[in-house]
Amino acid sequence: MYLMQRERLDPEFESAVVDFLSRCQDNDGGYGGGPGQMPHLATTYAAVNALVTLGSETALSSINRDSLYKFLLRMKDSSGAFRMHNAGEIDVRACYTAISVASLLNILDNELVKDLGTYIMRCQTYEGGIAGEPYSEAHGGYTFCGLATMILINEADRLDLPNLINWVAFRQGVECGFQGRTNKLVDGCYSFWQGGVLALIQKLSSIVDEQLESSFGNNGRSPAKSACESASSDLVGERPHIGNFLDIGFEFSHRDNEIGPLFHTIGLQHYILLCSQVLEGGFKDKPGKSRDFYHSCYCLSGLSLSQYSCTSDSDSLPPPEDVLGPYSNLLKPTHPLYNVVLDQYYKAREYFHSA
Ligand code: FPP
Ligand code: ZN
Repeated sequence: MYLMQRERLDPEFESAVVDFLSRCQDNDGGYGGGPGQMPHLATTYAAVNALVTLGSETALSSINRDSLYKFLLRMKDSSGAFRMHNAGEIDVRACYTAISVASLLNILDNELVKDLGTYIMRCQTYEGGIAGEPYSEAHGGYTFCGLATMILINEADRLDLPNLINWVAFRQGVECGFQGRTNKLVDGCYSFWQGGVLALIQKLSSIVDEQLESSFGNNGRSPAKSACESASSDLVGERPHIGNFLDIGFEFSHRDNEIGPLFHTIGLQHYILLCSQVLEGGFKDKPGKSRDFYHSCYCLSGLSLSQYSCTSDSDSLPPPEDVLGPYSNLLKPTHPLYNVVLDQYYKAREYFHSA
């Protein structure tokens, strides 16, 4: 709703949402899917993003950051990764949701970051994308989670970016939508997960250039090989982190798109608006499926980033030719690391950096 923001939402509705989410907050930290349910990282991420999007003092102050930090620490595994909930599964999605909320709320520290980059490096596969856990198949959802996490902890240079770009770019199909993994069907939600990876890469030109340069001057060895080699040597060592990720989300939001666009941005808008849209309202995976909130959220987020991908200056609005259909189709920009509307991100950042 905020991406499309035509008018302010009803304040009574907003306060009902804050009230509901407060009842989902666990006394020992984190948010469950409903009142009284066990706290879970996916619902914690969704609740924090929703409250940041609402942006009022009541919404932001309803988040108990002290207990949330303790919940995150309890979810941290000895491998460096995170688990989704108490005794739950460990994967790259858990790593991202934990780090995204910690970064947004300004509670990210060395203890949460310890060994995380090494775990995520182990999930980058021979195809170039990132899997949910080591030895699994590369998938767009986890590739976004893995890359965004690495950027938020200032370790994106440990991934093999040229190989990653190659894998994601070839996931855009003839329909111009993205598929989640090799040989599967396209689906509107990957407009954000895969399109989002390429939107992030547009702001990583210095690392990409450096990796390409070192692979060309690397006696013909591929960047993948050098990244693997550095992965195994990095497994023993730890990086000195202190302080270098504290405001990365803010700094990143001001970076220009120095590369790209890296996919067919008008083609993707065609897929989203003409194949995924339901004329009565909402979005779906593909024709033949039903609309739902998940696909509505991620189709709109993907639509937004595809409208802004051709603009290099982060402060400028896209020209009409970058927006499919009437210019009133232009959405608000979303922060590519957290996926919250940029204006609301700035408000929350100010709040959590002065609180
Ligand atoms: C495969 O489903 C999909 C998954 C196993 C999960 C993908 C992960 C995400 C979308 C990231 C979620 C992250 C957050 C922050 C909530 P499938 O086999 O039905 O789909 P496919 O055929 O398209 O691969
Ligand atoms: Zn989907």
